[in-house]
Amino acid sequence: MNLTEAKNLAKQNVNVRPDTKGRLGGKIAVVTGGAQGFGLGIAEELYREGASVVLADINEELAKASASSLGERAVGIKVDVSSASSVEELVIRTVEELGGIDIFVANAGVVKAGSLDELTPEQFDFVTKVNYTGYYYCVKYASEIMKAQHEANPDAWYDIIQINSKSGLVGSKNNFAYAGGKFGGIGLTQSFALELVEYQIKINSICPGNFYDGPLWSDPEKGLFVQYLKAGKVPGAKTVEDVKNSYLSKSPIHRGCTPKDVAKAVFYCVEQTYETGQAIPVTGGQVMMN
Ligand SMILES: NC(=O)c1ccc[n+]([C@@H]2O[C@H](COP(=O)([O-])OP(=O)(O)OC[C@H]3O[C@@H](n4cnc5c(N)ncnc54)[C@H](O)[C@@H]3O)[C@@H](O)[C@H]2O)c1
Repeated sequence: MNLTEAKNLAKQNVNVRPDTKGRLGGKIAVVTGGAQGFGLGIAEELYREGASVVLADINEELAKASASSLGERAVGIKVDVSSASSVEELVIRTVEELGGIDIFVANAGVVKAGSLDELTPEQFDFVTKVNYTGYYYCVKYASEIMKAQHEANPDAWYDIIQINSKSGLVGSKNNFAYAGGKFGGIGLTQSFALELVEYQIKINSICPGNFYDGPLWSDPEKGLFVQYLKAGKVPGAKTVEDVKNSYLSKSPIHRGCTPKDVAKAVFYCVEQTYETGQAIPVTGGQVMMN
């Protein structure tokens, strides 16, 4: 199937949705980077509330395993969000397998921290391609399907939600590739929101604080706590616990962000039909907006 055929199929199917109960009963959702971490946690909450969910991830094996652990309304599909053709293929396969797309969560992201002296131009390009350009590819192709659905049912609303970061709201020392791409993502969100509102497609970013219990931070070998301890990023820290405590103290609500916290903001975006183009912080008060 090509993209034009997928758009036609999505148009025909616009009122054909699974008869499931819950806040998202009948909705079809895609979560990129859905095999683990925030993505999997968000997918679990969407699934629990009745959505059918595609876990789209570069780690195909884990995406498929995570989908089977969720249940029969979940599917694992391989995608590399830094490749336009791979994202195009993802939306086509989603329509083939589930019939359409109502909610697209652009969550896949990578981090390569480092100062100007440390980070190489290749590492900068890698981070930018996944976190910034990849988000553009996701909006480009997901919105094609949603626009087709809008033609068939002008009353429905659709959502594209980027999982951004608190580092998209304030700069991050020795982490400029990540922060720069996330700041840029908010510019894309605001611009796409203005462009796509006429098709009833809302575009919002969610800016979580640090998910300390997730693999990105807590992996015993590659996690950021271990990396920061070895790099001496926290002066005086002798153990991983010291590093963790120093980070926990940055948030007035003295804990890390969880996938459930982020999922609440996802539900807000979907259920609120009077908001678009926003960057919603979920940081335990670490970043306060004015
Ligand atoms: N963990 C945090 O503290 C934190 C804080 C704020 C924001 N975020 C953001 O949340 C999102 C998810 O982060 P996480 O902590 O769950 O990360 P994670 O590393 O646990 O999971 C990321 C997932 O994305 C997948 N992925 C990586 N590159 C990909 C690509 N090119 N195409 C498709 N999939 C790809 C990985 O295989 C993995 O399953 C990211 O956008 C990240 O920037 C994370």
